[in-house]
Amino acid sequence: MIKSNPLEGKIALVTGGSRGIGKAISLRLAEMGASVCINYFKRRQAGEETLKLIQDNGGEGMLLRANVGNQTSLQKMFESVKETYGKLDIFISNAALGMFGGINEVDDKMWNLAMDVNAKAFLYGTQKALELMPDGGRIVALTSIGSSRYIPSYASIGASKATIECLMRYMAVEFNPRNITCNAVSGGFIDTDALRSFPIYDEILQEVMRRSHSKRLGTPEDIAAVVCFLCTPESRWVTGQVITVDGGFTLM
Ligand SMILES: NC(=O)c1ccc[n+]([C@@H]2O[C@H](COP(=O)([O-])OP(=O)(O)OC[C@H]3O[C@@H](n4cnc5c(N)ncnc54)[C@H](OP(=O)(O)O)[C@@H]3O)[C@@H](O)[C@H]2O)c1
Repeated sequence: MIKSNPLEGKIALVTGGSRGIGKAISLRLAEMGASVCINYFKRRQAGEETLKLIQDNGGEGMLLRANVGNQTSLQKMFESVKETYGKLDIFISNAALGMFGGINEVDDKMWNLAMDVNAKAFLYGTQKALELMPDGGRIVALTSIGSSRYIPSYASIGASKATIECLMRYMAVEFNPRNITCNAVSGGFIDTDALRSFPIYDEILQEVMRRSHSKRLGTPEDIAAVVCFLCTPESRWVTGQVITVDGGFTLM
């Protein structure tokens, strides 16, 4: 029998858990019984609203401001988790940032931003998470179909996502002896602020309508459902995988 609150007693940290996909993940983890540490960087109000939604529904959590692309800030965030909860069962590396540009426009600034906030935050965040994680813990990173497919102006972000997927596989092997699973969820086009900021948003929308039978973008909840499954005891035999959640978009 599958329990309705399979994550009761678990402590989760969701980077960028205040808005978009991260918000849907935070809410779902709380619904499943976890205490959720919600990280945000610039928009405190969004974080407060997400935490309030959790608390209004009888859940529990805390808000953590940190720039995950900065190692000192990242470290302080994990220290706060340790001080409050003493452990971390679930680490979701979701926050992402990047600048748009074709290959010829990629410079150090563009490259470093994507690598710092996306790839390095996953690597160094996981190292910190591991110090607090009991055996049987769960690590999930958000990636995108732009890691292996061409998305215009997405070169540096796509490279950072490919790095995440590679690191995830190494982690899965190295953490296997402790029954800590490590997976990545690769989203198709999901209706969030980030997608709306794409320079080619209208073209993406048209392409989604043309190619997919569902005739819709993905929702943050479509992604959260899979991420949160990977946090349950039932997912124990799934590790080192990139799971694509795109409504079949990349098949067509
Ligand atoms: N939307 C899509 O179509 C799509 C598709 C595939 C994969 N994904 C992946 O899914 C994840 C979430 O995407 P989203 O669309 O939900 O993004 P979003 O709507 O732009 O939300 C980004 C979240 O990350 C936080 N954040 C950004 N920079 C940060 C930093 N330096 N330190 C800490 N937090 C930071 C933001 O907090 P503040 O607002 O406080 O700064 C916000 O909570 C990303 O990894 C993205 O690559 C998205």
